[in-house]
Amino acid sequence: MSLAQHLEGPARPATVRVGGPRGGPPLSTVLRRDNWRLQPVLVALGLLGFVAYVVWAANRNGAFYAGSVGRDYLSPLYSPCITHSCISSGYVWGGWSWWRVSPAWLILIFPGAFRATCYYYRKAYYRSFWLSPPACAVADAGSTGSGLRQHYSGETRFPLLWNNIHRYTWYFALIFAGILTWDAIAAFRFPNGIGLGVGTILFVLNAIFIWAYTLGCHAGRHLCGGNLKRLSQAPIRRWWWKNVSSQLNAHHQLYAWLSLFSIIVTDLYTWLVASGTIHDPRIF
Ligand code: FES
Repeated sequence: MSLAQHLEGPARPATVRVGGPRGGPPLSTVLRRDNWRLQPVLVALGLLGFVAYVVWAANRNGAFYAGSVGRDYLSPLYSPCITHSCISSGYVWGGWSWWRVSPAWLILIFPGAFRATCYYYRKAYYRSFWLSPPACAVADAGSTGSGLRQHYSGETRFPLLWNNIHRYTWYFALIFAGILTWDAIAAFRFPNGIGLGVGTILFVLNAIFIWAYTLGCHAGRHLCGGNLKRLSQAPIRRWWWKNVSSQLNAHHQLYAWLSLFSIIVTDLYTWLVASGTIHDPRIF
């Protein structure tokens, strides 16, 4: 049975405005018979799993650089490694002795802020954790509450107001994508010259997914296509905007997940190699 057949009356567009009632159908209305709960549950599990892994990996504070076993692999969760414990791990850039805890926590602030305020991740956690609403054409859980939650406030108040910093975090994300690209190039460096290990491939894939995710950002699209009265009069920017929109932004959700997984896999592999648990096979 189609969605339209489940509608109890003629469809009426719901106007959502800040301070007004929340959008979506009333709680008593069932518009969907498909398994709409599955996606928010999977997304919640995926995000919780990622956060749990990152907390564990950051607190590990060791075996994040594989220099001692002849590989120039630095975990993406620790890059750039700039504190004193980086030197003790064999990485030469370190030196900030005032930072006492794991160097990963110093780094993760920036990509963490970028991802937490990303338009896709906002949708993901609004749906999966706050059920606001959990899916299209499903009642907003906020409409069961009382007081302020019954009114739609958008992102105009703390804490959601902070999501507006996203466009600024994007500039930091570009720097980090550049650093991870450098790490991917460094992964070709072997003690006796240029080489290719399994880890090298993981680092290259990670850099590709990070760039695909970062350049597909909505804030990035504004940089190339926004603030213009007529896009047709700026052919280079129009070309740039069109390609970023169709090739990257249209798949932003996919790249958001691929880059999340590639970060975990690359860190895990680096840890296993650096700790001597596995040997990194060299292809040439
Ligand atoms: S909208 Fe997702 S990274 Fe900017």
